[in-house]
Formats: sequence, C-alpha cells, structure tokens
Amino acid sequence: MTPLSKASLIDQAAATIAHALDDRKPRVAIVLGSGLGRLTERVESPLHMPYGPLPGFYPPSVVGHAGELVSGTLGGVEVLLQSGRFHMYEGFSAQDAALPVRCFAELGITTLIVTNAAGGIRRSFKPGTLMVLSDHINFTGRNPLEGHVLPHETRFPDMSVAYDRDLRAKAHAVAAAQGVTLEEGVYAGLLGPTYETPAEVRMLETMGADAVGMSTVVEVIAARARGMRCLGISLITNPAAGTFDGVLDHAEVMEVAAEAGERLAGIVEGVVNAG
Ligand code: HPA
Repeated sequence: MTPLSKASLIDQAAATIAHALDDRKPRVAIVLGSGLGRLTERVESPLHMPYGPLPGFYPPSVVGHAGELVSGTLGGVEVLLQSGRFHMYEGFSAQDAALPVRCFAELGITTLIVTNAAGGIRRSFKPGTLMVLSDHINFTGRNPLEGHVLPHETRFPDMSVAYDRDLRAKAHAVAAAQGVTLEEGVYAGLLGPTYETPAEVRMLETMGADAVGMSTVVEVIAARARGMRCLGISLITNPAAGTFDGVLDHAEVMEVAAEAGERLAGIVEGVVNAG
C-alpha cells in the first residue's frame, strides 16, 4: 500500500468515526486487551460502533476480542474504547495494528490507555497481578513507522519516556486509594502467536523484561509518533513459560483476565477521572 493510500485510509476511518460521534469529543482512548472487554459495561450513554463499516477495521478472529469502538462517559469523562485489536500474529501488518491509534489522533484524542494480557517473567508475579508499564522492548521485528513519514508524524520519535510519568503516578495513586496492588515493570512485545519457549523467557529476563505479550508496542510507537500521552497496564494471566511447572493454555489466560479484569477496570476508570 502506498504512503498516500495509508494516510487516506486513516482519514476515511477517522471521518466515519467522527460522523458517528457527532458532537461527542473524546480526548481519551482506551484499548482493551484479551478478555478485558467488560470495561465497556461501565460506560454510560454508550454508542456502539461495530468495525464492519469502518475502513481499515476488520472483524476480530481471536476469542475474547469483540470488534467495536464504544464511545461514552466513564465517571463523567468522555472516552472512546477500542474493543478488539489487530494482532500481527493474525497476519496484520504493524500499520494495520496501529491504524486505530492513528485514527484516534486524527479525532483529537491526546491520551492513550492500553491494556493487555501478559505472561509474568518476574518471579514474584502471580496470575492476576497488575503491572503498569514503565517501558517496553519491541521484539516483534516490526515497526508501524516503517516507510514514508505520514502527515503529523515525526521520522525519529523519542522513546525515552514512552509511558507518561504523570499517568503512571496517577495509576499508582488510584490503585493505592482502591487498595489494589499495582506493580511496575518492562513489557516485552513479541510477534506470537506461539507462547514463548523457556529459553526465550530466560533471554527476555536477562534483557530486563518483567512481562511478555503479543501486542501494545506498535500501538504505543504510533501514539508517540503523534505526540499522544500513553499509559499501559498489563494483567499478568500466567507465569511465563519455564518459570513454573505447567503448560500454557489460552482458555486459562482468558479466565484469569476475566477475574482480574474488574480490578484493572477500576484503575483505568480512576485514572480517567483523575484527569
Ligand atoms: N506470553 C505471551 N503473551 C501472553 C502470555 C504469555 O505467557 N500470556 C498472555 N499473553
């Protein structure tokens, strides 16, 4: 796809969403990870926008992901939720995966909150642990900024503080007020769809990663290229391969995500309300 057609696909999708939003003007977008879709139930005056008519948005193929944007208010603050992401392991390019975030930027959204399910590398992490991202390692081998520079983006975005310090501090304050334990650490984003081998997990641990997953990094890269403030929270659904005596199973990952999802939803709502 040429750079121009990429840009126009983003423009077309953003225009379609803007039309549906009418006079709603969300400034915060929230990307919901595997099994975390229940945050949509907390949204008041919801406006559901299924992906079908949105250019560049495809029906999800992964269990646990809906395929819709939901606008509404969370504790009185206007938000836009993305329920269902485009994973590169499904065959999507990094540009496909980052298209929603680029649309959000076109719509005037300045804050991006990304959530995901992840495997815990840090030995003290148990299933259900919540971890705010201090940083990430992009190990997917892909980058959504490859190719020509798109309008409103910079060629070499600074990634020294990819995850906004102020938002991280707010997340910790909100968690403390809610009596919820919130860890902080480095997320390694891999392509997937296989879970890691124990040797890969040992390598990631040596590199300084605390959690591992198959999403988030390309979205945050695109968001940073557009100057958006980012907050990332991982829900640790399982110990990473080789750090425990067992095998990994997507159904169990989904179960933990559903159980702990309420705690994560509470933190996200609190951060949104903290402004
Ligand atoms: N590895 C990668 N992605 C994941 C995992 C994992 O162990 N758990 C949930 N998403």
